Amino acid sequence: MTVATARAHPNIALVKYWGKADAASNLPATGSLSMTLDIFPTTTTVRIVDRDLDRVVFNGAEREGTVRDRVVRFLDHVRLLAGREDRAEVITENTVPSAAGLASSASGFAALAQAASTAYGLALDDRSLSRLARRGSGSAARSVIPRFAVWHAGSDEQSFAEPVQAPPIEMVIATVDAREKAVSSRDAMQRTAMTSPFYPAWVTSTAQTLESALEACRSGDLERLGRITETNALRMHAAIQGSDPSIRYLTPRSWAIFDAVAQLRGEGVLAWATADAGPNVCVISPPEHTAAVAERIGALADVVIARPGPGVRLQETDA
Ligand code: PMV
Repeated sequence: MTVATARAHPNIALVKYWGKADAASNLPATGSLSMTLDIFPTTTTVRIVDRDLDRVVFNGAEREGTVRDRVVRFLDHVRLLAGREDRAEVITENTVPSAAGLASSASGFAALAQAASTAYGLALDDRSLSRLARRGSGSAARSVIPRFAVWHAGSDEQSFAEPVQAPPIEMVIATVDAREKAVSSRDAMQRTAMTSPFYPAWVTSTAQTLESALEACRSGDLERLGRITETNALRMHAAIQGSDPSIRYLTPRSWAIFDAVAQLRGEGVLAWATADAGPNVCVISPPEHTAAVAERIGALADVVIARPGPGVRLQETDA
C-alpha cells in the first residue's frame, strides 16, 4: 500500500502524564490513565510520493517550520522501521481546538502513526502502534486505544498503552479559551522537571495514584476514581506552578468551573473536574448526572459532551 488514511480521537487523562524519563523517545516518568473521546477526530492521509522532500498540509494549509519538522522526524522513524527512504505527503484535517489543552497532538500523532505505518508497509499490532504514536507525542500512545487506556512507564518496549475497564463515565468539556497556549506542554514539562521543587513529589505520588486508580477501575468504584482524577489534576497544576519562571494554565474562569463542580457535589451530583496544559476544564460524571453538569457548567463556558470513543482506525482513502 502506498497511501493510507486513519482517524483518531483525543484523550483526556484521569491520571496525568507530566514529565519524561527519556525525552528522545518520549518515555514517561510515570504511567497514566485516560479516556479516549468520541468527538473532535483528526483524519490523516499519508501518501508515498516521488519527491525529494516530505510535504505537510494541515487543515488545508501547507506547513513549514516546527510543525513540519516534527512530522518529518516522525516519518524518519517510520522509514527507519520500514527500511525505506521514500518521501511522503501528509494531509491532516483536525477538528480539535489546537493547542488549547485538548490534546490535539494525541489524536494527530495516533492518526499519523496508523496512516504512515500502513502506507510504508508496516503491519503493526496495537502495542507497537501505541509505542510508535508515543514517539510523536507521549499522550498519543493512549489515543490508539478505545474507551479507557493505561499507558505504562518503563523501557521503550514496555511503554505502550492498553485497554482497561472503567466504571461508566461521560465527560463535559468546557472550552474556556480555544486560543493557542503560551507555553507548550513539551517546554512546560521540561521546566517543571528542572525547576519545580514539587516535581519529585509529583512523580512519586502519581505512581501510587495510578495504582489506586486502577484498583478503583477494577472494583468499579466511580467515586474513588472521580476523587483521584480531580486531586491528580490539581497536583499536576501545583507542580507546574512551582516552576521558575512560574507557569499558570488555569485562569479565573477555569477555577470558577472547579468551584461549580464542588458545589454540584455538595448537591449530590457526582462530578469531578480535571484540566490539561491549558485553561479548559473537563468534568467527568456518570451518564445519569451528565445533563445536570452540562447545564450548570454551560452557564460559565461553552460545553460539549463526550463519551468513551473508538481507538485509531484505518479509513477508506478518498483524498
Ligand atoms: O503528550 P503531550 O506532550 O501532549 O502532553 C500531555 C500532557 C497532559 O495533557 C497535560 C497530560 C496527559 O496525560 O495527557
